[in-house]
Parts: sequence; C-alpha cells; structure tokens
Amino acid sequence: MMPNALFSDNRVKLGVMAFNCSNGSTVTTAEGVWPMTWEGNAELARMADGAGLEVLLPVGRWKGYGGETNFNNRTFETLTWASAVAAITKYSTIFSTVHAPLIHPVAAAKMAATVDHVSGGRFALNVVAGWFKNEFEMFNVELAPHDRRYDYAAEWLDLVKRLWTEPEAFDFDGEFFQGKALWSQPKPLQSPRPPIMNAGSSETGHAFSARHADMNFAMLRQKDEDSDRAQIAHLKQMATDLGRTSQCWIHVYVVCRETEKEARDYLNHYVIEKGDDIAVANMLDIFGVQSGTLSPDVLDAFKFHFKAGHGGYPLVGTPEQIVDGIERLSRMGVDGMLMSWVDYLGECRQWIDQVLPLMEQAGQRQKFSP
Ligand SMILES: Cc1cc2nc3c(=O)[nH]c(=O)nc-3n(C[C@H](O)[C@H](O)[C@H](O)COP(=O)(O)O)c2cc1C
Repeated sequence: MMPNALFSDNRVKLGVMAFNCSNGSTVTTAEGVWPMTWEGNAELARMADGAGLEVLLPVGRWKGYGGETNFNNRTFETLTWASAVAAITKYSTIFSTVHAPLIHPVAAAKMAATVDHVSGGRFALNVVAGWFKNEFEMFNVELAPHDRRYDYAAEWLDLVKRLWTEPEAFDFDGEFFQGKALWSQPKPLQSPRPPIMNAGSSETGHAFSARHADMNFAMLRQKDEDSDRAQIAHLKQMATDLGRTSQCWIHVYVVCRETEKEARDYLNHYVIEKGDDIAVANMLDIFGVQSGTLSPDVLDAFKFHFKAGHGGYPLVGTPEQIVDGIERLSRMGVDGMLMSWVDYLGECRQWIDQVLPLMEQAGQRQKFSP
C-alpha cells in the first residue's frame, strides 16, 4: 500500500475543496459559478488525482446560507461522496468532513473504514464540532456551548480511534457516550489509523487539533504576515509540547490570469459586483456569534474574503505572482493549501498546466509520476 499522500515529500501540498457544494466556496452570482453535479465532481476529482494533487476535501454542509445564491444549499453528503470518489481515483487522499454530534461514532468508524478499503488506504477524516445552528435544528440536536463542543468531539474521536484499532469488543462508559461490547470490523487498511484533520480556528479549536488531530485546517486572521506566522507557529508549538506534530493547512481562493490587472478585475467582478451580501451577512452572523474566532473589527474586514472564498487566503495574479505568494505562505509555516475557484474545471486545469510547473521549478513540489 502506498503511503498516504498527505505525508508526501512535497514542501507545499495541494488539494481541492468544497466542490461537493453548489457555489463551492465563492458567494457570488457570477457567470460560470459551480453548479455542482456528480459529473462535474467526477471530472474534477479525476483531473486533480491525475495531476498528483494530494487532497480532495468535501465540506460538511446540510443547509444553505440564504441570500440570492442560497450559498451551499445543494451538497453531496461527504462519506458517501468519498466512497464514490475513492472508486474513481488512484492517488489523492479522499477526505470526509463529519460533524461529530450528527453521526454516531460507531457508524462513522465503520463508514470511514469502508472508504479506506474502497480507496486502498487513502481515506482521511476532517472532524468538525459544528458551528451552524440552523443545520443542527434539522436534527433536533442542540449546538452545545462553544468549548463543550470540543469536549464532545474529543470523546467522539477517542471512541472512533478505539473502534479502528482495538481487536476485541470493549464497553464504553463516557460522559457523552455509553455502549456495550463495541466492536468494528474490518479495521481501516491504514495502520494505526487514517489521518485526522480538524478545522477549529478558535483557541479551543486549535488546542483540540494539537491534541487529537494530525493537521489543523487554519483560518489565518490576515492582519499581517507576522501575525499569521505567529498563529501557525503557536499552533505547531501546541502540538510539539504534547510530543506530537501537526501540519498546518489553509484554504486559498485562486484567481490566476495572464496579467495582474485581469486577475484583479475578475476578482472585483465576482466579489464586489456579483457578490451575495445577504448570504455573507448570514454567514458572518453565524461565525461571529457562534464561534470565538474573529473579533467584530476583523469580521467586517473579512466580508471580502468570505465572498471571494469562504474566508480563505487570496492567491490572485499571474502564475509567477501566485508562486511567489505560495513561497511566502510556505515560509510562514503552511504545509498545504486547499484551493477553490469560481470555475473549478477550467481554472483547476489552468493551475495544472501553468502554475504546477512553476511550483516544481521553485522547488515547492516534485514532478508527479503516477
Ligand atoms: C476553511 C474552513 C472550512 C470549514 N468547513 C467546515 C465544514 O465543512 N463544516 C462545518 O460544520 N464547519 C466547517 N468549518 C468550521 C470549523 O469547523 C470551525 O467551527 C470554525 O473554523 C470555527 O472555529 P471554532 O469551532 O474553533 O470556533 C470550516 C472552517 C474553515 C476555516
């Protein structure tokens, strides 16, 4: 079995995110925005996989954010998605994003093991604690107070890890879960277990990642480079203090054009002229009120980044400028970047053809041979 691509030697690892959702990560009514069909998902997954991108990551979403776009209202469920994507790809790591409070750990452990077998040991789990009250209301599950969500996720993950690794049945009597003779077979192919990511971005979320996950999907505050560097260093130091290591992944939204002006004009077009302010206001409301990550002043400045790419980091310009931007992120401690575009199929193809070779020349990645 090949080692999981998440641990490839590439200094800057790459992935594609959120293409299981309508609109992907761009909160806009611009022409060509992602309509989200299975045919499109399959084509994009094969394209990224064939080019040696390390990660395919679906977002866990059950309900749209309203506004003209009703952003992310059509979504494929991520474990069933992962199984299908696993069956048509060969190299990339296939993630599922699972809300701990919405799927019982016994079910989740088995579904994950199933995907690990279908993929030949390429599964990874992005476990999230929940942040969107409206989707929890559909399950009649109360969104717990912020820090309690992470206590719950910790016990949930403990149980999943035990089900993945313990050969004998065991009783479990925790604070949130109780059960008799818990057992799961087959075990995942990956030993001791599939990699785990967490997207918590509050201090509690980061502490959870450091203790329980192998990588944090961080939301950089983007005040300035020094503070982002410090945020990443702090994240990694927390893991080091626990005798663990943690990769730092971030989300980047990409607009790559022949000239910087063309790139900036298009960014302005889809964000300023065609952005869906209502959906983003709803999103920020949820994010600001229900998470402790961003203070009110930063929240306002983040409106642009949320419309452009779900609060991600901008990579905007010519292929050369983008590779320079990546170099800065790498020096700041970023290990991997999950990308989104307005036009996933056209712009991912362009990335592979025009940006990837420059990344190889810059020593950020090695040439991929399938
Ligand atoms: C890029 C990114 C993607 C995320 N994807 C999801 C997701 O798919 N589903 C979800 O419920 N939460 C998602 N989250 C929310 C996080 O799990 C987390 O709740 C949020 O970053 C706030 O952090 P906190 O929970 O530590 O306050 C995402 C966050 C970021 C930054």
